[in-house]
Amino acid sequence: MKFFVDTADVPAIRELNDLGFVDGVTTNPSLIKKSGRDIIEVTKEICDLVDGPVSAEVTATDYETMVAEGRKLAEIASNVVIKLPLTLDGLKACKTLSNEGHKINVTLCFSANQALLAAKAGATYISPFIGRLDDINIDGLELIEDIRTIYDNYGFETEILAASIRTVNHISDCAKIGADVITAPPAVIKAMANHVLTDKGLAAFVADIEAAGIKIL
Ligand code: E4P
Repeated sequence: MKFFVDTADVPAIRELNDLGFVDGVTTNPSLIKKSGRDIIEVTKEICDLVDGPVSAEVTATDYETMVAEGRKLAEIASNVVIKLPLTLDGLKACKTLSNEGHKINVTLCFSANQALLAAKAGATYISPFIGRLDDINIDGLELIEDIRTIYDNYGFETEILAASIRTVNHISDCAKIGADVITAPPAVIKAMANHVLTDKGLAAFVADIEAAGIKIL
C-alpha cells in the first residue's frame, strides 16, 4: 500500500519524507489556502522534494479551462498528477488529458458509480472520500470495498486512493480491503506508530537499563 501525505505544508512533508513514509503527496484548494502559498510555487517545491506523484488540483469547473489549467500544472514538474473534480466536465477533461499522457487523480468521489465512470475516463487514481461520508452517517469504508470489487471484476487499472482519512483505523481498514493508496494528514500517519503498551514497555526497559547500568556504547 502506498502512503500519500495530504497537505501543502512543506516542512511537514519533509519530516515524513525523511522518515521514509512519503510515496506521494495530494493537495487541494483548501490545503493550498491553508499553506498561504502560491499554488505554482508550492507545488514546484513539493515536486522537487518528493520523488513520487504530487496531485495539484485545477480551479476551474468548465471543461476547456480545466484542460488548460491541467496542462499548465503538468508543466511544473514531471511528477505532477492533475486533480480534477468528479463532474461530467471533469470526466471529459480526464479523458482528454489522459489521452495526452498526463496522470489524473479524479477527486470528490462519493459513489461506486462515480468511480466506475472515472475508470472508464482513464483516471490514474480515483479518490473516494471516506471521512466526509462518515460525517453524514454513510459508511465510507463500504464504498472502498465496492470500488475494489468493481475494479477487480473488470480489471480496471485505476488505483483506489482512499482520501479524507481521519483516523489510524481508517488506514488499517483500507489496507485490509486492498485500497492501492491512502492519503492522510501528516498527524494521522505519525499516529500509526503510537501504542500505549509500547510506551509502557519502553519505560520499564529504560528503568531497568538505568538500574542495571547497562551500556552498549
Ligand atoms: C484528497 O485528495 C483530499 O485532499 C482530502 O483527503 C480531503 O480530506 P478532508 O475531507 O479531510 O478535507
